[in-house]
Amino acid sequence: MTDIFGIYQGKITPLSEIKVSPLSRAYTFSDSIYEVIPFYKGKGFCFEEHISRFNECANRMRIKVDFNLIENEILALSEYVKEEDQSYVYYQISRGIDEMRSHLVRTKMVPERFGYATKITPSTKPLVSMIVDDIRWKRCSIKSTSLLGNVMSMNSALDEGCDEIIFSSEDKITEGGASNIFFSKGNEIFTPSLKENILPGVTRDFFINALRSENISVKEQDCYVSQLDQASTVWFSSSTKGIQPVEKIVNANYTRDTKDEVFRKASLIFSQSIEDYLSKT
Ligand code: PDD
Repeated sequence: MTDIFGIYQGKITPLSEIKVSPLSRAYTFSDSIYEVIPFYKGKGFCFEEHISRFNECANRMRIKVDFNLIENEILALSEYVKEEDQSYVYYQISRGIDEMRSHLVRTKMVPERFGYATKITPSTKPLVSMIVDDIRWKRCSIKSTSLLGNVMSMNSALDEGCDEIIFSSEDKITEGGASNIFFSKGNEIFTPSLKENILPGVTRDFFINALRSENISVKEQDCYVSQLDQASTVWFSSSTKGIQPVEKIVNANYTRDTKDEVFRKASLIFSQSIEDYLSKT
């Protein structure tokens, strides 16, 4: 591993020099939350929104941590990638380190803080996807590092040549394995409405606001697997992907309409809005 800098309990070093206790609750229980915050030439994109979701998740997990400190550490890490066109800071907070592994937390703990910064090499390759049963827990709106359901499902799909998956629960689409999902049909754009089993994506929210400010309607509602067959374009959104179209869904009759004007316009609005945002910060 070369030149990737990380932070652990406030100390910045090359990532390879960080040593973590095996009794970290991140290690034994995935008792931890995380954020992935994009930076463009060192400028944070939707930084406040990411911090606010992080804070909200910490509150829901009842992890008490000083968010001024977290913000400063994330910004300090971002300095290491400020020359890169696109980069991100990964940052996770665990409840702390146990003296002995125990589900029950009876003593006050010092939260454990870890992060790193690295560049993003954006991919323009359209994605291959697969619809899979959403086997995850019922609180996916918490951005927890407990991602076993995502990891298992995504790696089974990788064996079928897929880059990303589409989770569905009782035929209702929830989200991707590491992204939110949208699709166009006719002149309309659809995305599943937010529920406890969907992560409220910062990119999703930014994108919807950008579209609405250009008078493009986005329907946030229950979306069904059967609708994907009739979609003109299906796409994913996330902090690292931006918005990326799906070329093929291996277990659906979806054919991407490469001349889809709705998607073309939506992606233009998205990239223009990012530029506008960055020029104002
Ligand atoms: N993933 N849904 C899931 C399950 C995700 O893991 C992510 C992001 C999103 C999109 O959220 P946002 O727009 O705030 O990045 C939706 C990050 C990038 C990751 O785990 O690496």
